[in-house]
Amino acid sequence: MKMKAALEKKFNAQITLEFEASLVYRQLGIEMDQRDLPGMAGWLRRQADEEIVHANKFIDHLNDRDNHPVIGNITLPPSVAKIDSVLSCFEAALKHEQKVSESIRDLYRAAEADGDLDSRPLLNWFLDEQIEEEATVSEIVSRIELINDDGPGLLRLDAELAERPIRSTEPTAGK
Ligand code: FEO
Repeated sequence: MKMKAALEKKFNAQITLEFEASLVYRQLGIEMDQRDLPGMAGWLRRQADEEIVHANKFIDHLNDRDNHPVIGNITLPPSVAKIDSVLSCFEAALKHEQKVSESIRDLYRAAEADGDLDSRPLLNWFLDEQIEEEATVSEIVSRIELINDDGPGLLRLDAELAERPIRSTEPTAGK
């Protein structure tokens, strides 16, 4: 069943935010490449790809319901342009994930207020996904704080992230 116009607008804002998340991760990956940390750069780049999968899930949902997905304008948050350390890079990633989580909760509340049952499975998936995404980035931030700018420690974490796959329920994502 087609969703109401006001809810469609909120879903479109979410599509835009997921693409914004992809660009944020891509820029953060570039920043780590600039510091010769290829493991972190690769992890952030794979995360950027995963965000496009997220955007496409919302696009497919709107298309399937005969609504109209529209990608809005994207401006990267100022924090992304001010990365001056590995810690600030992953803190910026965490801040953006928190913003996405809050936006998903808002979307859930709006869908519930409309009695829009058809979007529930998708939004439940995203609520779960955000818990996982925040936990993953938060753990990386905590470990960088423990390392405290120690070169060998950062290189060990870099090597570990090079091996770490992106958790995804999409079989083709993150490859
Ligand atoms: Fe699609 Fe990382 O939130």
